[in-house]
Amino acid sequence: MLVFGMESSCDETSAAVVEMGEGVRRIRSNIIASQVETHRLYGGVVPEIASRAHIEAVTSITRRALDTAGVDIKDIGAVAVTTRPGLIGALLVGVCFAKSLAYANNISLVPVDHIKAHAAAAYLSQPDLEPPFLCIIVSGGHTSIYKVTSYTGFEEIGSTRDDAAGEAFDKIGRFIGLPYPGGAAMDKLAADGNPNAVDLPSPALSGDTLDFSFSGLKTATINYINNLRQRGVEPPHADIAASFTHAIVSAIVQRAETALKLTRMKTLVLAGGVAANSHLRRALTELCKKLGVAFVVPPAGLCGDNAAMVAAAGYYAYLDGVRADLSLNASAI
Ligand code: KG4
Ligand code: ZN
Repeated sequence: MLVFGMESSCDETSAAVVEMGEGVRRIRSNIIASQVETHRLYGGVVPEIASRAHIEAVTSITRRALDTAGVDIKDIGAVAVTTRPGLIGALLVGVCFAKSLAYANNISLVPVDHIKAHAAAAYLSQPDLEPPFLCIIVSGGHTSIYKVTSYTGFEEIGSTRDDAAGEAFDKIGRFIGLPYPGGAAMDKLAADGNPNAVDLPSPALSGDTLDFSFSGLKTATINYINNLRQRGVEPPHADIAASFTHAIVSAIVQRAETALKLTRMKTLVLAGGVAANSHLRRALTELCKKLGVAFVVPPAGLCGDNAAMVAAAGYYAYLDGVRADLSLNASAI
C-alpha cells in the first residue's frame, strides 16, 4: 500500500510517499523544504513566518513527492498527516492541505502524532524491527522514554519536566554564538573539547523516577559562561560544548540502562532530531553492547522532521482502523 505523508509541525515542510505492507517498508520519496535559513536571522523559529512558509511550500513539495515516487495521487491508499504536537499555525497548514487532498481524491485520511512518527522512522531504517521495544525520543520539543508495546501502543515511562534536550542544545549553542539550530554545530564542536572540563549538574532527576530536567543544566552552563565573561575571559567553546554534551549524554545513557533493566526490553530505539548526535549514538551503542540489547537508530536524515516517518506511523494507525473526517483539527499539545 502506498501512503502519502505530510509534515508541517515546526520549520520543515515535508511530503513523502512510502510503500508499506507485509515485509515491505520502502521510502519512495521524502521531500523536505527546510526553513532553517529564514529563522536563523531571528535565532529561533518565528511561528507566524513558519506558517506562511509552509503555505508557500506545501503544493510544490507535494507535487515533487508524487513525481519523485513516480506515482499518481490515485495510487495513494491513505493520506497521513501530523496533527499534534507542534506550532498550531504550522500544523494547520498541513492538516488543511491533507484534508483537501484526501477529500478531493476520495482517499482515507489518517491523523498522526509527531512523537509516534519519530519512532516510526526506525521501522523504515530497520526493515525487520517489530515491537515491543524501548524507545527514547529526543528532539527540539520532546525528551521522553516509551515502552512501545505494539505498532500503535506507547506507554510513557519517563519524560522531561521542563525543556527538551534539543532546545537546551540550541540555547547553549546560541549563547556561545553558534547559528540556529545549534544542535548539530554543538555536536561537531564537542568533538574538540574536554568533556570533563566543566562540572555541570546532571539532567537526570534523582529519586524513583525516569524523568529529566534540563533547566538546571542550562542555567549552570550560562552562569559558568557569564562568570568568565564578567572577568573578561571568553570561555573555551569546545570545552563547554563537550561538557554540556557529556552531561546530557550521560543522563540519557543512565536512564536508558535503568529503563532497559526495568522493562526487560531486548531492543532500544533512539529517534528524534537529537538522535543525530554522534556522541549520543556512540554512547548508546556501547551501552546496548554491554547489556546484550539490540540498538536501532535511524540514519541522521531520518532523525529530523520528515514526512516519510509520518507516512510509516500513519500506515500502522490505518491498519488499526484510525480514520479522520473533515472535522479533523490540529493541536499544539
Ligand atoms: O525532531 P526535530 O527535527 O524537531 C522537533 O520535533 O523538535 O529536532 C530538532 C532538534 C533541534 O533542537 C536540533 O538542534 C537538534 O534536534 N539536533 C541535534 C543534532 N542535530 C539536530 N542536537 C544535537 N546533536 C545533533 N547532531
Ligand atoms: Zn520532530
